[in-house]
Amino acid sequence: MCGIFGIVTATERRLGGILLSAGRRLAYRGYDSVGAATIDRPGRIDLRKDVGKIDAVNARLHLDEMEGERGIVQLRWATFGSPSYENAQPHLDSDGDLVGAHNGNIVNNVQLREEFIRAGMTVRGTNDGESCVHAVERYVDQGLPMTEAIRRAARDLQGDYAFVIASKDERDEAGRPVIHAIKMGSGLVVGLGDGFACVSSDLPSVLPLTNRIVRIRDGEMVTLHPDRVEIRRVEDGALIEREVETFTEGMDAAEKGGYPHFMEKEIHEQPKVAADLIHLLTASPHVAPFLDDLESARHVYFVGCGTSYHACLIGAAYFNRIAGIPAVGILAPQFTETIARTLGPDDAVVFVSQSGETKDVLSAVNAARPRGARILGVLNVLGSALMHASDHYLPLACGYEISVPATKTFLNQVILFLYLADRLRREGRPIDWPRVPVLIGETLAATDAAAKQVAELLNPHSEMYYLGYGLTLGTAMEGALKLKEITYAHCEGMLSSEFKHGPLSAVHDGYPVVFVSAPDDAAMMVNHVNEVTCRGGRAIVVAAADELLGKNASDYITLPDAGHDLTALISVLPLQLVSYYMSLARGIDPDFPRNLSKTLTVD
Ligand code: M6R
Repeated sequence: MCGIFGIVTATERRLGGILLSAGRRLAYRGYDSVGAATIDRPGRIDLRKDVGKIDAVNARLHLDEMEGERGIVQLRWATFGSPSYENAQPHLDSDGDLVGAHNGNIVNNVQLREEFIRAGMTVRGTNDGESCVHAVERYVDQGLPMTEAIRRAARDLQGDYAFVIASKDERDEAGRPVIHAIKMGSGLVVGLGDGFACVSSDLPSVLPLTNRIVRIRDGEMVTLHPDRVEIRRVEDGALIEREVETFTEGMDAAEKGGYPHFMEKEIHEQPKVAADLIHLLTASPHVAPFLDDLESARHVYFVGCGTSYHACLIGAAYFNRIAGIPAVGILAPQFTETIARTLGPDDAVVFVSQSGETKDVLSAVNAARPRGARILGVLNVLGSALMHASDHYLPLACGYEISVPATKTFLNQVILFLYLADRLRREGRPIDWPRVPVLIGETLAATDAAAKQVAELLNPHSEMYYLGYGLTLGTAMEGALKLKEITYAHCEGMLSSEFKHGPLSAVHDGYPVVFVSAPDDAAMMVNHVNEVTCRGGRAIVVAAADELLGKNASDYITLPDAGHDLTALISVLPLQLVSYYMSLARGIDPDFPRNLSKTLTVD
């Protein structure tokens, strides 16, 4: 996790504003602490950092007023070392000649710190980003130039990471300042502008400055001059030629577009992104080979984490129900430890990840590949590690999802799986695809008020259950995750028929249990609802109008009539809204819930 951004310019100027804007765009990657460093022409380093979110830290430290020719900003999601001033990045080396910041994990951090301390270096904190700086310092002190020192340091640093670093006195042959960055497993892109070059963990933080992009690959390092970049292979230092791409996609998606939060904006974008995805799938030549792999496979697995895992559960259920293809949805680390050991070349594994950078998912890919299984990717971020690792991939076509809670990407994951299953359908009526985006819009409009009321009635409670059955198990689990994530209440999502096997003992007067039901399961669900209500519990049902359910439920969020398969899809919409409204009622910023990060590039 974490986000890094660095810039070098031809002339000294107020870089603070640029660092602040880039930092705000990277804030989804981590917000335990933030720091910025600038280096002015005489080579003075101004370092300002603290615990907290970027706007709060800026209000205290005036990051926006920082000046110089070179600048670095870092947003931290804590892994090694508690969130503290010392562990906030960027870090200085012992003498304050180097300044740098990293993203990722240095797994031998503890051993390295001991070595640095034994060598007499000034180690100020316990964060592994500081170890990156000292690792370079060790070779700079031996008289090596920066590029060589960084290459040598990379041999000492174990893990997946990227870092940006500058030496206060270093200038190129033309006397202009430079900064360096290295990519060893974490994201890194370079932007080239008029009189500046910048480097960042992601594209959205670069695109407001320039659309001329250079992509850096794993095992490469880059030296940024104000007018050009030099890419080198870390292994042998050889220079690499790389085309500059002109990126044409707009940045509207990264703005809130009038909504108070990205989450609300992204919820309401769902009819549009669904239409985009359906259009793309209908026209894409990549769907057929993807389907061939699935149809011919001995076993099919859907593998993901968090929200993407919940979509996998629904995807696997669709494949079993609609396509008659046995499929299993499984969490990525569990897949690595179990299924991956028995995989064979006849198996197909669909790896699902919004970011395409989730370490647990990439580790599962690495476990599957040597066994010869087909690696199929479903991802939102084009150019991500999962895209490159896949034999075939399909994009989710959602545009940027900024808010930490995934909403539109979940919906499109489920749509994509339903689309594939529908193409392989053995029996039953095919899905009316042009109707799907309309249905999504209707559901949002029809359930908004009821979702607000349910948020109010759930808000006084600190624990509750969300139960689903069959297809809606994944939806209920996703609704529960959304609630946990942005309200900090405890909410367990599980199979409704499993509730009586233990959790039922939690029910007492007024205890809330939310039931998500698809039409064919209504009769079964009535039993589960009654098990709760007859013990004084409050049963909130999310389903299409159903007489039996209606008579037995305490509260009802009525979904449009969509049929069994599509109900699993649309029922997530009011659950997203319930979480959003409850988060607001609790005074929590739903876009940036505490302790979380949008992209989890650690084990
Ligand atoms: O980028 P991915 O889809 O691989 O991310 C997986 C999870 O970290 C992610 O879905 C997480 O659970 C979301 N923040 C939930 O809203």
